[in-house]
Amino acid sequence: MPQFDITIAGELNLDIILYGLPEELPFEQELLASGLMVTLGSSSAITAHNLAVLGTRVGFVTRQGEDALGRIAFDRLHAAAVDLTRITRSSTASTGLTVLLPHTRQRRILTYPGCMAEMTLAHLDLAYLASSRHFHLSSFFLHRGLVAQMPELFQRLKAAGLTISMDTNDDPTDRWEDGVQEALQFVDVLMPNEREACKLARNENVEAAIRQLSERVPVVVVKRGAKGAMAVAKGKEVSVPPIPVEVVDPIGAGDSFNAGFLHKYVQGADLAACLTYGNLAAACSTTRAGGTEAFRDPEHWKQFFAAHSARR
Ligand SMILES: Nc1ncnc2c1ncn2[C@@H]1O[C@H](COP(=O)(O)OP(=O)(O)O)[C@@H](O)[C@H]1O
Ligand SMILES: [Mg+2]
Repeated sequence: MPQFDITIAGELNLDIILYGLPEELPFEQELLASGLMVTLGSSSAITAHNLAVLGTRVGFVTRQGEDALGRIAFDRLHAAAVDLTRITRSSTASTGLTVLLPHTRQRRILTYPGCMAEMTLAHLDLAYLASSRHFHLSSFFLHRGLVAQMPELFQRLKAAGLTISMDTNDDPTDRWEDGVQEALQFVDVLMPNEREACKLARNENVEAAIRQLSERVPVVVVKRGAKGAMAVAKGKEVSVPPIPVEVVDPIGAGDSFNAGFLHKYVQGADLAACLTYGNLAAACSTTRAGGTEAFRDPEHWKQFFAAHSARR
């Protein structure tokens, strides 16, 4: 019996969200935000947090700076019962930070990677990561110290019998290389949004991009923002419509989707059930600020899940 349902190796940072700033940002003028949220950020940490809240046993290997930002992020994961016994600490680099400026339709995302970029294979306890049924990787391109070794990491975890999911998130260099194409051969579940699917497949047509990816990966799950989500497996396509919600912000919705989907996936649920639960977790995430605030309030998320499951 493995120690964990899911292990994750990934980044840990905080999000500072400034609401209500103008889309055009002039120089030298002091601009006042109408709202502020300081919350757990980073795709890997948000996914780990929400998985643990949903009841999945999660082991999270990450790198933390010796600073207040790192301590706050650590405490959030600890409170959600994520196992952090293999965390490593950097004495040279600080914990990363993302500043987000959500606007009506789009958002600005400014990230200082900090010590997440330092993490290499040498910082990962492979036996610990392998003591699980499944391994998840988020933010492929932010792991500058690890990208070149990612195919090797995946290969070793596959050899240990784990299934693997990956959400690349965006590539800040926009090259969509650095071993990601090679790593795909070890991935069981690929979890991009529509834009990332196109970039990864190098095809601007979403449908064609998804078809191409599904020839390389057994399960391709595509997050479609306000249009819901879909998946392709063995040539079969399944879609789920969006859940009607009053959106506070969509920050971390994709990561919450991953948590909901994988929570069911490791239980052996069918594709439709995984997709429905991912969609539910994602919609729930949008009802509070950032990616984890909705899940820090048990009454809120349980009530949301009950209300929106009953109608199906
Ligand atoms: N306005 C919305 N209404 C309902 N669900 C939403 C909305 N926006 C996002 N979601 C849910 O969040 C998921 C992830 O959002 P998306 O923006 O596509 O991913 P990412 O955060 O990775 O860019 C969607 O697949 C959907 O389930
Ligand atoms: Mg995403």
